[in-house]
Amino acid sequence: MPKTTIKASSDIALIKYWGKKDEVLRLPENGSLSIILDGLDTITTVEWQASLTKDDITIQGTQDALETSRVGKHLDRIRQNYSIEKGAQYAKVVSKNSFPKGTGLSSSGSGFAALTYAATLAAGITLSTKELSILARQGSGTACRCVCGGFVEWHDGQTSETSFSETIFPFDFWDICDVVAVVDEGMKKISSTEGHEAAHTSPFFTARQQHIASKLQTAKALITDKNFAALGELVEAECLEFHSILLTSQPPMVLWYPGSVQVMHEVQAMRSEGIPAYFTINTGFNVHVLTLPKYESLVQERLAALPLVKKTLTAKVGSAPQSLDQHLF
Ligand code: DP6
Repeated sequence: MPKTTIKASSDIALIKYWGKKDEVLRLPENGSLSIILDGLDTITTVEWQASLTKDDITIQGTQDALETSRVGKHLDRIRQNYSIEKGAQYAKVVSKNSFPKGTGLSSSGSGFAALTYAATLAAGITLSTKELSILARQGSGTACRCVCGGFVEWHDGQTSETSFSETIFPFDFWDICDVVAVVDEGMKKISSTEGHEAAHTSPFFTARQQHIASKLQTAKALITDKNFAALGELVEAECLEFHSILLTSQPPMVLWYPGSVQVMHEVQAMRSEGIPAYFTINTGFNVHVLTLPKYESLVQERLAALPLVKKTLTAKVGSAPQSLDQHLF
């Protein structure tokens, strides 16, 4: 059976997925909108091997029990829903990221997108982007967007079949840059999956649900018009609204580190000097700073010079997952 290697990119949510109306199917409470990030990538090789008696899963050179169990459950979904060609039931999976995992940079998004695509192709199963999105979503919500390219919308849906993502603008529609300020490379203490479960305990969650659909429509219109300043303001406000829910959930989630706050202040200082830069943060402490190509190196230099920033990564709008000829084993 063919060994298959897929490169999939992570994304940054401009309008965030937070809270699930169905935890098992991973149906989100609201639709979301993201940019796929070329530069924050996962490469995964999968081979279904008749000689294996269980899955053999290695991520970033290690076989962590929690991670291998989550990946194994996703392979179970594939085993249950499709027939694997030539009867091999277990897979060898090797995966690596170009960026630190578990730090708020959506490694589960690129990871489960690459895994879903590689594992199905390696099993001789060809899925449409919509089918891949539905399947990837059940591994990690973000992965449902990461099987697409460019600017991506995830329709929340009421059923598994209607909760999927699609590209609303291709990667070359608008050149937006993301400079990621890495303030720590250690793993975060709480996973997004645990955080989603607490979303409903915040008194602000209901208020968010009342305006999130219209906020998503506004964001789409601002992308259509390429209005970077208005989109940036909206994205930053959305990030702060999202974190206000984290702060007021039970248990409360204070995810920012001192370096995260330093970056936020620097971004606001740059804006007061006329530099178009806007921050957003997921469930973690590392900070995405969106800017335009003309300002990318300046923004990168300013962030890299901050005492609490360990390093910066740069990404541009990326395309859908791609097949690679070079395998990881
Ligand atoms: C804050 O997709 O990581 O990054 O579905 O449980 O795997 P699971 O959660 P995950 O949640 C991402 C939340 C977010 C917002 C977003 O990317 O939309």
